[in-house]
Amino acid sequence: MRRRSLLTGVLGGTFLLAAGCASPVDTVGQVDFARPLLIPPLAPATVDGTGQRVFTLHAQPGRRDFGIGGTTHTWGFNGDYLGPTLRARRGERVRVDVVNNLDEETSVHWHGMHLPARMDGGPHQPVRPGATWSPSWTIDQPAATLWYHPHPHGRTREHVNQGLAGMFILDDDGPAQRALPHDYGVDDIPVIVQDKDLHDGQIKNKNTGDLLLVNGTYAPYLKVVTERVRLRLLNASVSRVYAFGLADERPVNLVATDGGLLAAPVTLSRIRLSPGERAEIVVPVRAGERVVLRSFPPEIGAARSFDTGRDQFDVLELRAAATLRPSAKLPAEFGGLPRLDPATAVTTRDFRLNGTDINGDGMDMDRIDTVVTLGSTEIWTVRNTDGQRHNFHVHDVRFQVLSLGGAAPPAELSGWKDTVFLPPKTEARLIMKFADYADPDMPYMYHCHLLMHEDDGMMGQFVVVEPGQSAGRISGVGAHEHH
Ligand code: C2O
Ligand code: CU
Ligand code: CU
Repeated sequence: MRRRSLLTGVLGGTFLLAAGCASPVDTVGQVDFARPLLIPPLAPATVDGTGQRVFTLHAQPGRRDFGIGGTTHTWGFNGDYLGPTLRARRGERVRVDVVNNLDEETSVHWHGMHLPARMDGGPHQPVRPGATWSPSWTIDQPAATLWYHPHPHGRTREHVNQGLAGMFILDDDGPAQRALPHDYGVDDIPVIVQDKDLHDGQIKNKNTGDLLLVNGTYAPYLKVVTERVRLRLLNASVSRVYAFGLADERPVNLVATDGGLLAAPVTLSRIRLSPGERAEIVVPVRAGERVVLRSFPPEIGAARSFDTGRDQFDVLELRAAATLRPSAKLPAEFGGLPRLDPATAVTTRDFRLNGTDINGDGMDMDRIDTVVTLGSTEIWTVRNTDGQRHNFHVHDVRFQVLSLGGAAPPAELSGWKDTVFLPPKTEARLIMKFADYADPDMPYMYHCHLLMHEDDGMMGQFVVVEPGQSAGRISGVGAHEHH
């Protein structure tokens, strides 16, 4: 039997939440899939005299008709809502000219990117209205699905929720990438999932909503023309956790997580993603069929009645053409994954997440919480000691999960990650190596990626220093602007 859907009125959820009702949001079977999935355009780039690939992103206000009645005021990069997909190859030098056409300060952070702290786009690299910020760096990491979004101090939730986010796809010359579907927009599809709370057609600065958008499309379908399609799933929501799978629970192949390919494809029927996490799945389809990508109840283990662990959504309908072009066979493995060896770790650190604090402190722009020596491998033990859910994201590095809840990590956490979900009362042990970039005066961030927690101060700062060097004084413009 089907539970009553809240989508009967798009605005219904607001009322029910306000009334404290514990009914889960359930749009299964209720979505009409009336709109073709929008595919973010690939950002054009020029190559300058030094061989640098140059992109331009304008953060700007806009208006979008999501097709649910009326026009919504939005923000976007180079358009009304979300931004173009940036794409670059390993070894390439890139520069992005970020132009702020909003009437407030913002920033753009390259989530998952290994790069110097001054280029990271966190709260210490604010871009004033009318200003242009031009970070540049060399792509030096394997192929992966990264993303970009604002990171202004205390305002990240609103900026992302208004529509400022986009995908940043990295390519490399590895044989696996050629064997996977890789024709962008045809069999290699960005799937940026966000929930929204719209009221009178306008975006509310809320933590959850019951309206689902994929690439800014409400109730979308995708025409599939090949035997296999690669979906690059990105949870770009404020706080909602999803458990993606096909409606008929057919097995799909998980091929990559946040930081790149797994050692080998993993067959599963569900993949859970908390905010900021990515997963690349390869879905087999049969000619002529329709199959729905769904988010099943993520069962996040929180007891609170207003929690979202029982919510489920129909996300995207895949409509297979009557005849499908053949796809390459999936490789049985991707050439192995170098494991970071715990025996090489020189430092172990503990991070306790509770309320909106890490180790009992809220974010302070002027305080360096952690000093890491360049070249060292460290183990970070991150504990959610809370009754509510959190996750943990580290800038600059990719990490591997040594254990989750005291057990070996499940297959979907066996590869490179930069964000990990922490159910209530759960501990994760992460191993990471800090290479290439030291700067005693400019910190990177680690934080909970539930954006309201991040904005409320559940964030700390680390600097990477040369051996023997000590931390300096935070020197970014941002350090002074907020005090
Ligand atoms: Cu996706 Cu610190 O961010
Ligand atoms: Cu990040
Ligand atoms: Cu949190």
